[in-house]
Amino acid sequence: MNNSINFQTLPNKSAFLSDKLQNYLVSSGPNLDSIQLALIKDTREKTDMPMMQISPEQGALLTILTKAIKARNALEIGTFTGYSALCIARGLDDNARLTCCEINDEWIEIAKPHWGKAKIDHKIDVRIGDALTTLRAMPMKETYDLAFIDADKNRYPDYVREVIPRLKPNALLLADNTLLGGSVASESESNEGVVKMREFNRMLATDESMEIVIVPIGDGLSIACKK
Ligand SMILES: C[S@@+](CC[C@H](N)C(=O)[O-])C[C@H]1O[C@@H](n2cnc3c(N)ncnc32)[C@H](O)[C@@H]1O
Repeated sequence: MNNSINFQTLPNKSAFLSDKLQNYLVSSGPNLDSIQLALIKDTREKTDMPMMQISPEQGALLTILTKAIKARNALEIGTFTGYSALCIARGLDDNARLTCCEINDEWIEIAKPHWGKAKIDHKIDVRIGDALTTLRAMPMKETYDLAFIDADKNRYPDYVREVIPRLKPNALLLADNTLLGGSVASESESNEGVVKMREFNRMLATDESMEIVIVPIGDGLSIACKK
């Protein structure tokens, strides 16, 4: 197995933690196994956007949360080369399912061999296409125990409007990049991405059907629970 990738060589995606503290955090966390390392390596070699992948500590949290709530039906919006899907699927029982919405099938082709090696591929149903269209075609009923939003940031408000009605009571809604490097808190920042992320964060904070916390790991991970 390749030994050139380990936690210490991964970039610090957090604008909130010093490199030293980030290294301590990840080295005190989970060990990446050979499948995770191979997927990270493949993503670096075959794409020019490896930073899109969630961070290892976020991945560990996804697995833990998925297991803790015993999710039966999970949903992911924005799959890329499949690292977060691998982490969620590993937290699912064998007969539970993860629906992945992704617009670019080239990324999914990179993911598939790794999902196969991890023996989680049978749990994953990929829907290629625009995620908003895919979501709107789903029945408007409480279906999912867990949803993870990590696609185009400008449409987070649109995604959350579609996702919340499809969550079961007590389901978890997770979203990545919700602190956008800290720019959401900076009044001088007014580009569309920041404005939309503030809108998303405000929607969740003011939605009386949801409890919400933003955890400053990676680029900010929102964790909300449907009441
Ligand atoms: C940040 S990456 C996801 C990273 C992934 N969760 C991981 O951990 O590897 C965002 C993904 O969303 C996808 N995406 C962007 N716009 C989309 C859309 N309208 N519908 C579906 N997927 C979209 C991109 O192709 C990209 O793969």
